[in-house]
Amino acid sequence: MALAESLRAHLIVHRSEARERLLSWFASQARDLPWRRERTPYRVWVSEIMLQQTQVETVRDYFLRFMARFPTLHSLAEASLQDVLKLWEGLGYYSRARSLHRAAREIVAVYGGGLPADVQALRALPGIGPYTAGAIASLAFGIPAPAVDGNVRRVMARVLALETPSPATLETAVCVLLPEEAPGIFNEALIELGATVCRPQTPQCLLCPWRDFCLGRQEGEPAHYPAPKPRKVIPHYDVAAAVTVRDDGRVLVAQRRHDDMLGGLWEYPGGKRQDGETLEVALRRELKEEMDILVDVGVHLTRLKHAYTHFRITLHAFRCRLAEGTPRCLECDDFMWADLATLHALPMAATDRKITQVVAAMLDAEQTGADRA
Ligand code: ADE
Repeated sequence: MALAESLRAHLIVHRSEARERLLSWFASQARDLPWRRERTPYRVWVSEIMLQQTQVETVRDYFLRFMARFPTLHSLAEASLQDVLKLWEGLGYYSRARSLHRAAREIVAVYGGGLPADVQALRALPGIGPYTAGAIASLAFGIPAPAVDGNVRRVMARVLALETPSPATLETAVCVLLPEEAPGIFNEALIELGATVCRPQTPQCLLCPWRDFCLGRQEGEPAHYPAPKPRKVIPHYDVAAAVTVRDDGRVLVAQRRHDDMLGGLWEYPGGKRQDGETLEVALRRELKEEMDILVDVGVHLTRLKHAYTHFRITLHAFRCRLAEGTPRCLECDDFMWADLATLHALPMAATDRKITQVVAAMLDAEQTGADRA
């Protein structure tokens, strides 16, 4: 759906007050966030990647730690992917970290280490979609490009009273308003308005600098826009994971394939239970398929629930013992028998990190028992 002429005219009529009011609101209400201080293209880029799918309050500390560890784009390009993943641990959506690292190397190789000041060139880099390209182009380089994230989509859908606006309509609408001289701050202010005032369920219209020309508000039901997307049914899986402990106390862990979900992270090997299988049978099958070993499945150590974007899991960790064979990677990129210090140092996803805490307590209790005996 293209932007209707009447809506374009509505925006043009209110354009200068929209700009003035939004920018002066932002000047007094902007949150003090680390990436808003000392704005460099590198810092803008890293923050925008972290802010994809993640709340500002979660990103804050990750961003500061990341900048302390990798202060320049060159330092990121030279780092190992394992170090980048370790710093990303707990932030989720790990393909962002892999893409960031790959893009850093590409930027060094192709552009000599500086991010390109061009929307199309930015879009061609790993991990950068239309929103992120617009955000970097405008915030880092002052290029008047729209940056429509979920917040901006909500604000513009309400201002224009549109139930199901297309991305192109929203980008056109933002372009009508975007000032040539301060496009980055304008985009950021619009994101901030969506995040703090034009909230999904409870818009705070009395605090909104755009309340006088918001068509959704004039109709009396701003929260009606945009129409909610139909909810998909999210499947659930039972997953079993093996904590296989050797006599010397070392534990078997595998590195997930780099092109898979959670690629590059380390895990306790295992997998989904299939229909008709017990968890124990599933675990024995998975270890044979993944690492070519037979294990004896012992006590149930812990049960964890976790929600990913497209499915939910209940993860059951079992203590196991190697019964037959020598591990080798059939469906993983690497494996090792790790001591506790190594388990703490390896990058792991949230569920495996929790299992590690249980493993640490278990090994600690066993050591104490052995010392007493
Ligand atoms: N979300 C995306 N970009 C942002 C920014 N610059 N500040 C706050 N939240 C954001």
